[in-house]
Amino acid sequence: MKVHHIGYAVKDVSAAVKAFKVLGWVVTAEPSDDVSRNISIAFVSNGQYVVEFIATLNPEHSSPVDFLSKAKFPGNGIPYHLCYECNCLEQTVAELENTGYRQITQVAPAPAIDDRNVVFLLNQHIGLIELIERGDNQ
Ligand code: NI
Repeated sequence: MKVHHIGYAVKDVSAAVKAFKVLGWVVTAEPSDDVSRNISIAFVSNGQYVVEFIATLNPEHSSPVDFLSKAKFPGNGIPYHLCYECNCLEQTVAELENTGYRQITQVAPAPAIDDRNVVFLLNQHIGLIELIERGDNQ
């Protein structure tokens, strides 16, 4: 499967975008809020590489990246998932589940990626991965 992006947990999405721009990255999706997941999110790219920044929106509530507030080192900017693009989420999840991956979220649309469906799986040896379904125009 082709890698779609690398997910980075950060404390401040706009500050992370600014720091990456200095290194030659360009913004492909400006920071926006995904209230249903309690996150702020943005995308930058550099050649073939795409990085997604994710920050907790409201610290009063849980979020997929609230582990960051407990991390002692490096404490910010932690790459924590690779996202892979596939043709059919249902089929790919079934195949991966036969090899030791476990689905840990419901399939749900990602507003920051054209509402394409995504799902997260966990593997005991490599941690978290994300799957995104290929869009109509890809
Ligand atoms: Ni992601």
